[in-house]
Amino acid sequence: MPARATAPLAERSALTHGGPSAARKARFWDRIAVKYAADPIADMAGYEATLRRVRGLLSADQDVLEIGCGTGTTALRLAPFTRRLLATDVSARMISIAREKLAAEPVPQLSFDVADADAPVASPGEYDAVLAFNVLHLVTDLDRALQLVGHALRPGGLLISKTPCISEMNPLIPYLVLPVMRAIGKAPPVLCFDADALQSAIARQGMDIVSVERHGTRGKDFRVFIVARKPANPPIH
Ligand SMILES: C[S@@+](CC[C@H](N)C(=O)[O-])C[C@H]1O[C@@H](n2cnc3c(N)ncnc32)[C@H](O)[C@@H]1O
Repeated sequence: MPARATAPLAERSALTHGGPSAARKARFWDRIAVKYAADPIADMAGYEATLRRVRGLLSADQDVLEIGCGTGTTALRLAPFTRRLLATDVSARMISIAREKLAAEPVPQLSFDVADADAPVASPGEYDAVLAFNVLHLVTDLDRALQLVGHALRPGGLLISKTPCISEMNPLIPYLVLPVMRAIGKAPPVLCFDADALQSAIARQGMDIVSVERHGTRGKDFRVFIVARKPANPPIH
């Protein structure tokens, strides 16, 4: 099932002409960045379970890229377990808060930069792992974003992701709540898909699904944690 954006008509027509600009995508996130930084993590036990799982996949000889890093909370926790972690986000305000946190709590392996996950951010094969936490439902074009992840990974490299699957929520959320919140500026455009559709999209980019997990500890967990590997020897066509 293709991912559906709940963007209003004006924005949907922009999608057919290359998609909204990075500045436009950043607008919502720039506005809420300070509040986002201050909000507590809703399911701390689930978050810690994900961090433990990801740490087990990282090592000190790996170069790692994070897309949609927000204010850098996760990057600050994971960077010490890598050789280098470049954490990126489309929102300059999110990145400026992340840099303030890094200045207060220096981690030599870590740097932050503004970058759009819908556009190339890395040289081909530059990274051993790409982290995408709570962002793949926010890109403009899921296939394109996953293609870029594939390009950024070296053969054998890992995509490590956790993604809210909006199609698995109560249907009132994608069909009523989100459109209303979008209309009053309280929600960004989101893609609606379930875990199967996300796995298919990852597989379409030639990556092998290694693991599909749920780490939530409170109620129904609609966030799927997926690890996928770029084949060490990509097929020759
Ligand atoms: C829900 S927050 C998640 C932040 C962080 N990864 C976390 O798990 O707490 C989504 C983040 O994705 C960023 N984002 C949205 N669209 C993006 C895009 N096209 N490229 C890069 N970042 C994007 C937003 O600016 C925001 O910081």
